Amino acid sequence: QKGGFEHYMLKEIFEQPLAIHNSLLGNFDKIMSSDFLSSQDFSSVKLIACGTSYNASLVGKYAIEYLAGIPVTVELASECRYSSETREDPLVILVTQSGETADTLAAARLAKKRGHRTLAVTNVVGSTITREVDNVLYTQAGPEIGVAATKTYVTQLMAMYMLALKLGKSRTLRRDEIHRYTHGLKSMPRTVSNVLAKSDEISEAVGMLTNAQSAFFLGRHINYPTMLEGALKLKEISYIHAEGYAAGELKHGPLALLDSNTPTVAACVWDMSYEKMLSAISEVAARDSPVLGIGIEGDRDLEAIVDRIISIPEVEGILSPIPLTVAVQLIAYHTARKRGCPIDRPKNLAKSVTVD
Ligand code: F6R
Repeated sequence: QKGGFEHYMLKEIFEQPLAIHNSLLGNFDKIMSSDFLSSQDFSSVKLIACGTSYNASLVGKYAIEYLAGIPVTVELASECRYSSETREDPLVILVTQSGETADTLAAARLAKKRGHRTLAVTNVVGSTITREVDNVLYTQAGPEIGVAATKTYVTQLMAMYMLALKLGKSRTLRRDEIHRYTHGLKSMPRTVSNVLAKSDEISEAVGMLTNAQSAFFLGRHINYPTMLEGALKLKEISYIHAEGYAAGELKHGPLALLDSNTPTVAACVWDMSYEKMLSAISEVAARDSPVLGIGIEGDRDLEAIVDRIISIPEVEGILSPIPLTVAVQLIAYHTARKRGCPIDRPKNLAKSVTVD
């Protein structure tokens, strides 16, 4: 059943090129021609989710705002019940791989009660959420058995990009831009395969994490949530305390925690945040924190200031969360494996959380 892989999680990480392909095949044309999203009668979007799906929603916020120019808010489903009704009438998107998370279901019901238009992004056909909303987008990742979400997360990211392109099509994006980003998405199976080919190299590089008690994951802009996801994966399966941080926030407190026993994983790609990431990494390295950098192939400036580097192929900055996510999944996986943790069944966690 594990197809020769030691764990379901690793199998599912390696299934991501196919999952991405299926998610495009099953959704791209449908989304681009959908009437539901063509309507101009919502001026904002609200994404609601828990856990990993919340991190995917944060990536969605950056993508939709960047590509479509629509304001987006992201809410934790568990906090929604305390939200006040405002004059805003957003398109509400519930993101939940299982479609059964109690808090997300409650948020869907509240959105409907308030008269908002609702869309669910889920992986499970016929799940409860699909009966609570106006429209459904299936992520098409295929069944996921490992408790830590991997391929369902990456296909949620694909859903966010497809929605952003659709919303941008009638608003901000020129035809050539749509073409460029579409090409970038369609190349993702190959880009991700290239990162998967580095699994052994990543396994070797995580030596600096295996004995740590605490680690930092730093990113900026759209890769800030990517690093929140990296930290979440590491916590979940390796039981190492990890903090995902927007790199600009370091000097507002967490720098005090950095030392030679506290490694940092830093995402640094050639986008608008590049220079600032380089300088954040230099500050971290100056506090003796061992740094594992994830950057674009051939980046000598990054290589010069980190202890180890994992390279990903060059992609559009806004699409870089996909290959970067695969790298942080492998970092978490190999760290947990070296620590002898029960990767597919981490303690205290369940695949779907049906109580609130
Ligand atoms: C972490 C993980 C959880 C889920 C969360 C929400 O790897 O899987 O954080 O993301 O419990 O689950 P769904 O997406 O099913 O609503």
